[in-house]
Amino acid sequence: MSKIKKKLRVLTIFGTRPEASKMCPVVLEAQANPYIESLLCVTAQHRQMLDQVLETFKVVPDFDLNLMLPDQSLSQSTAAILLNLEMVIKQVEPDWVLVQGDTTTVMAAALLCYYNRVRVGHVEAGLRTGDKWQPFPEEVNRRIAAVVADLHLAPTDHARQNLLREGIADNRIVVTGNPGLDALRLITAQPTPPEVNRILQELKIGPDKKGLVLVTAHRRENFGKPLENICSAIQVLANRYADRFHFIYPVHLNPHVQETVHRLLGDTPNLTLLPPLDYYPMAHLMSRARLILTDSGGIQEEAAGLGIPTLVLREVTERPEGVSTGILRLVGTDPATIVNQTVHLLEDNQAYQAMARAKNPFGDGYAAPKIIQALLDFQP
Ligand code: UD1
Repeated sequence: MSKIKKKLRVLTIFGTRPEASKMCPVVLEAQANPYIESLLCVTAQHRQMLDQVLETFKVVPDFDLNLMLPDQSLSQSTAAILLNLEMVIKQVEPDWVLVQGDTTTVMAAALLCYYNRVRVGHVEAGLRTGDKWQPFPEEVNRRIAAVVADLHLAPTDHARQNLLREGIADNRIVVTGNPGLDALRLITAQPTPPEVNRILQELKIGPDKKGLVLVTAHRRENFGKPLENICSAIQVLANRYADRFHFIYPVHLNPHVQETVHRLLGDTPNLTLLPPLDYYPMAHLMSRARLILTDSGGIQEEAAGLGIPTLVLREVTERPEGVSTGILRLVGTDPATIVNQTVHLLEDNQAYQAMARAKNPFGDGYAAPKIIQALLDFQP
């Protein structure tokens, strides 16, 4: 008589928009797998920005802790997550918790799993800058997750090497690619959303990737002077290219970002500040950009997936694979450097094409099935 195998109970936990977009493909894959019982808990460290992604992927959480506070400090959100998430973990008694990346939610969830002796699978494991202050506090968050994790789902071999260097056993690491590329594949296969067509029409940006420069900047280590520097560079560029390019900057809801960006960039004709865009329109807008300037982590991967040359507004990146292949260039936050590098790419078509042709190193768009298979194959 064949033994009936018990389903693996997997509790996925996330809290912010980027975790949601990367983990929704994984949750959908888990839900479709007959050997897995999939449950989802959102801390809602982000409220509006998270809900947009859940709606796009038609994913409904089983638990919603609704923990976001206005202008929350890192200790407030950490404390709230620790206190509220433990009840869910105790109630569900999962075989595995899956977390992704390096936010406060990931760090707190990993710690709680350790306290409750629950296995952790860490998606997007092994990203490092080697500098605990950059990005802040994400570099330390992901190192904490790595100390606790039982299974490290690394996006690239470079990330795997980082983990090996930290003494993590090879048989606990599986290179899967980044599920952010799965999300991008699913979403860009959909028709262009009317919202994007409307924006492009209103701003008279043609469909040919010639007229749009997309900007995003929201990182905590860039708050204050670095973000002001980024804004002043964007202002110079917008003035210089008043007739040729339109700059669009969807502004993150963090009040520190909102205040600075609206104060410094509020009034330039060919520069449009938008509220944060949903993941679906943002992916489509990115695909129409000539160039992207960003300090985001996930956009570095998405831009590489779409083949859009991207200048990274940070001093260091935990995604050096994209810099090595050439699709990303690290420019920091010095205004003169941002301006010079942007001018170079907008005016030297050869340099631009060399970047645009570079390879995407972050995955083939099928990480989610590999992540789920790695959980099923795990040998303690
Ligand atoms: C967090 C992550 C960061 C990630 C970013 C993506 C940490 C430590 N950082 O930073 O890695 O790149 O999310 O977005 O977890 N807010 C809203 N509505 C929303 C979302 C945010 O009003 O839907 C405002 C709130 O005032 C909130 C503030 O933004 O207090 C900051 O959110 P928080 O999650 O603390 O940090 P982020 O800067 O978003």
